[in-house]
Amino acid sequence: MAIKRIGVITSGGDCGGLNAVIKGMARKAYALGIESVVIPNGYAGLYNLVDLESVVVLNADRVSKIEASLAGSEAGHSRVKISKISDPDKYTRIKKGLEKFGIDGLIISGGDDTGSVVVDLSSQGIPCVHVPKTMDLDLQPYSVGGDSAVNRIAMFTRDLKTTGMSHNRILVIEVFGRYVGHTAFRGGIGAEADCILIPEVPVDFDIVYNHMKTTYFARIERSDVKSGTYIIVVAEGLKNASGEMLYDESAGVDAFGHKKLAGAGKYVRQQLEKRLKGDPDVEKFMKYAGMYVPGIYSIPEVREVTPGHLVRSGHSSAYDVNFGYRAGAAAVYLLLEGKTGSTVTDVEGKKILYMPTGEAIKRREVDIGELALFEGLGICFGRVPVEFKPVELEERRHIDRAL
Ligand code: F6P
Repeated sequence: MAIKRIGVITSGGDCGGLNAVIKGMARKAYALGIESVVIPNGYAGLYNLVDLESVVVLNADRVSKIEASLAGSEAGHSRVKISKISDPDKYTRIKKGLEKFGIDGLIISGGDDTGSVVVDLSSQGIPCVHVPKTMDLDLQPYSVGGDSAVNRIAMFTRDLKTTGMSHNRILVIEVFGRYVGHTAFRGGIGAEADCILIPEVPVDFDIVYNHMKTTYFARIERSDVKSGTYIIVVAEGLKNASGEMLYDESAGVDAFGHKKLAGAGKYVRQQLEKRLKGDPDVEKFMKYAGMYVPGIYSIPEVREVTPGHLVRSGHSSAYDVNFGYRAGAAAVYLLLEGKTGSTVTDVEGKKILYMPTGEAIKRREVDIGELALFEGLGICFGRVPVEFKPVELEERRHIDRAL
């Protein structure tokens, strides 16, 4: 079927780079003589499309009003899985909505849940192409929003050091990322955090404590003004040594039906406080550092900070604007070529790379082999450090991913 009008949907959690996806898609479609329109509010909007009076056409004038470098999405978001809508006629209703507005195909940007709906809609005969998006970076290909989130985590973590230093506090910064630790890991390294705790490594809190004690005590002892901090970046999906997730059960579930993860930072703080209180060296250290005040300060303060949605708000990184533009534009070509149920993975020179969406959304975890390299540089990951031994040296004469 010839595609004359494309609908764009953004779904799941908002993040950086999405407006570049929308702009890239709309401008490419426009250049090819195809109209594109916004289907607002993610899959909720797709379900309710039939009841809308009008849709916003992304003509040259409207597109120029979208700021590619702003995070969030001009198209709006929701966390809705079509298959979970109780209405038995949902697919017919969606098709009627698409028919009403003459929409022949969809470009949908989102993460794993969104991608599973792309597979679902494709199997229902609705042409759609997926642009990978998630700040969690847990898809197989790079996903727009990841780089922006990593940069913002690094920025907030670095900034928090000044307050940490002023009060000699140990700071535990809990960041989004769901069941994987990519953004905590990369953001933590970017900020030179002392310790990074991620779901891929079940935490041994005695190891974290000892690393903290050695690093933090030495830092304050070395300082002429007896000042220092210790920074821990914690991914929200953290597990303890028995593999149990350390989140707060009372947070409930989101609209996709996933548990809302929150509380890992608090748990880490409590573990450290417990050990600080039971350690006889701490009082000696506090007295030496001039921090001890009877009845007020007997142990250093441990505080948890949760930047939450700030890590996916504000502005997009330049990398995400680049990736968003090219992935959005590439998606138009894939849709025109009938590659429904596919995910754009990148553009390499004049080649558009893609893969089946069902494959693209398989969860990708942090390759813990790399952690040993950073452990050798002094960073704690809550486990016994492993020596980094490269398994092989490989000469490669091509680069897989270009900016
Ligand atoms: O999937 C992206 C993400 O930011 C996760 O890292 C986090 O757990 C979740 O979204 C938070 O979702 P919401 O915006 O619905 O609170």
